[in-house]
Amino acid sequence: MPVIARAPGRVNLIGDHTDYSGGLVCPMAIDLATTVTIEPGGDRVELRSDADPEPASIPLDVADPASVEPAWARYVAGVVAVLRPALGGRGTVSTTLPVGAGLSSSAALEVALALALGADDHDPVALAHLCQRAEHVASGVPCGIMDQLVVAAAVEGHALMIDCATLSLTHVPIPPGVDVVVVDSGERRTLATSAYAERRAEVAGAEALIATPLRAATDADVTRLPPGTLRRRARHVVTENRRVTTFAAALSAGDLAAAGAAMTESHASLRDDFAVSTPTLDALVARLVSAPGVWGARLTGAGFGGCVIALTEPGATAGLGLPGVRTVTAAGPATRR
Ligand code: GLA
Repeated sequence: MPVIARAPGRVNLIGDHTDYSGGLVCPMAIDLATTVTIEPGGDRVELRSDADPEPASIPLDVADPASVEPAWARYVAGVVAVLRPALGGRGTVSTTLPVGAGLSSSAALEVALALALGADDHDPVALAHLCQRAEHVASGVPCGIMDQLVVAAAVEGHALMIDCATLSLTHVPIPPGVDVVVVDSGERRTLATSAYAERRAEVAGAEALIATPLRAATDADVTRLPPGTLRRRARHVVTENRRVTTFAAALSAGDLAAAGAAMTESHASLRDDFAVSTPTLDALVARLVSAPGVWGARLTGAGFGGCVIALTEPGATAGLGLPGVRTVTAAGPATRR
């Protein structure tokens, strides 16, 4: 009998570039997903994907996932290298997620594949850690835990606030009468070729200078940094953590104006202080927030291209004539059957 595992993609409603310093994030799993179907057996993992003509063929003792070809097979190799399953298998990968668009297609593939290869599905945090390590060895990008954890632990109809210091999870209901809209900018930059690792190092540099984790830092700590790049990076993280709390409280209370305002402020901070936006993303956000019925908009995920999201009244973006618009709903976690 084949094993079938399915894992959703995600949008991040708010809290970007905060996970790797133990901050707060509030992503939401979405109703676009990757499905891995495997017939177990053999000493290789052999998969065909509907998103790439080249198959993946990975030996169970794969040594260097980052050098595997084709490039998508590195994620397969990463999961194999970290999980070290006793048995390989043969099967397929199919996805409704746009690949490399910032909707965590790689986390969805990692989690679905790990489950298909027999990973323990009782502990979402352990599953997320396994897949985060797979991402590190596959792509060389030192990503945080957000994407893999929301994919593994989401609850349908809810966003997931994660305290990345304690990994405590708070399921935040999405109120009725709210659309979460995704607009694909069409700009593609993989995390590896972006300045992700550089930003992560800057955050660590700011923490070293003030001798305080940014999660615990105050505005006064931030202003003790010399004016310049590190101070701006730190200011983004410290203010973004506060915005996540504000957003989650506002969403729970049904105060969509306040929730949307926090999102739009988050975009400005990612643009001005964290410098991970692009003119295309900025133009999309400006267009969205000027439309009636749009409560807020921001880039989502790492930035440097990818998608913008908006919180809107139902149907508010229909008349804007934007290409690549899609309304997403809050999906449940990855599953295996
Ligand atoms: C990527 C990483 C996450 C997180 C975001 C930015 O999606 O995988 O861990 O750092 O960027 O918030």
